[in-house]
Amino acid sequence: MKELQVKNDANGKVVGQLVEVPIPTPGPNDVLIKVAVTGTNPKDWKYINTEKAFNSGDDIAGTVESVGENVPSFRPGDRVAAFHVMLTQTGGSFAEYAVAPATTTFHIPRNLSFEDAATIPLVAYTVGIALYQDLALPAPWARKDGEPVPLVVYGGTTSVGLTALKFARLSGFSPLITIAGGSKDVIARDNLADVIIDYRNNPNIAEEIKKALNRKELLHAFDAFSESPSAEPLAANLSPKGKLVGILPYKQELPNGHKLKFAYVGSGHQVYPPYNTEEESKADQDFVQVFSSYLEKILREGRFKTHPIEVLPGGLNGIPEGLNRLKQQKVKASKLVARIAETQGL
Ligand SMILES: NC(=O)c1ccc[n+]([C@@H]2O[C@H](COP(=O)([O-])OP(=O)(O)OC[C@H]3O[C@@H](n4cnc5c(N)ncnc54)[C@H](OP(=O)(O)O)[C@@H]3O)[C@@H](O)[C@H]2O)c1
Repeated sequence: MKELQVKNDANGKVVGQLVEVPIPTPGPNDVLIKVAVTGTNPKDWKYINTEKAFNSGDDIAGTVESVGENVPSFRPGDRVAAFHVMLTQTGGSFAEYAVAPATTTFHIPRNLSFEDAATIPLVAYTVGIALYQDLALPAPWARKDGEPVPLVVYGGTTSVGLTALKFARLSGFSPLITIAGGSKDVIARDNLADVIIDYRNNPNIAEEIKKALNRKELLHAFDAFSESPSAEPLAANLSPKGKLVGILPYKQELPNGHKLKFAYVGSGHQVYPPYNTEEESKADQDFVQVFSSYLEKILREGRFKTHPIEVLPGGLNGIPEGLNRLKQQKVKASKLVARIAETQGL
């Protein structure tokens, strides 16, 4: 089969090459998927270098080809989406076939396109781990008990942030306050937040959050951007016993002695020192299994609307340009996906 291997050229531009490699063999707990559409994520350009090119994609949508001996829940021909194990250096979603653990694979309903499904896996598991494991918020299926929980999400128009708002709505958190910029209409359109604060040229974000909280105690904040100073206005409003979680390591000092806990999606598969501990990963590996089943249900019932997409021209050959645009922060509130069958040279 063919896969796309990417690396940086001497000028830091992402370049790619189609390479003939063997079809991967699923391990006992894995699913082998014929990839129809691959998604993309910022990490696909962040972890490559100029030396060894590799297939850095992890978001898969396609059809089950075969399953490992310990996988009772999938059969050849099933339509699925899946999150591949990150940074494996061999294999990945930029290919005709890819392997993923069954725990991070989920069925997709007939009426959901592979293009839309490819936007879900990595980002959804990130949000699941961040909100329900690291922030320990009540899961969407938990019975509502007492006052609704306020939540502030910084970066409501990043793929991670918008997905967090969707799960926050499913969980019934309120008030739901978010900070976003030029793409904020995607939040308003689906009523995914009670208050949207524009971060652009705004020195009063902390004050605006305070006003929106209306004297309610803030115990949970999620920074879905995590580039300084995003966490500052969150920490400034957080209760002394509150928790702040983000998606990039955050080194800057924060108000009131708060620390940002880094939530790492890879924790659902394995330990990635120093990002997570063995104990965290053990719990997160159980969590993703349960979360996959919940994802299947809300997709089947039409309770989860997928991210806006842009289909890259040229299949796998369009991915390097897509990754360059992600790197230049030119992609706004949209997921770039590629259809494998449109690749010239397969
Ligand atoms: N820890 C993990 O496991 C994990 C998992 C997934 C992603 N990540 C990381 O999370 C980050 C976001 O990834 P993503 O895929 O969600 O990104 P993305 O969808 O590519 O984010 C694009 C959006 O970023 C927003 N943005 C740009 N500057 C901003 C600012 N100063 N404040 C708030 N929002 C701003 C823009 O919103 P507007 O158009 O509204 O301005 C834009 O639409 C990346 O750094 C990624 O590497 C980490």
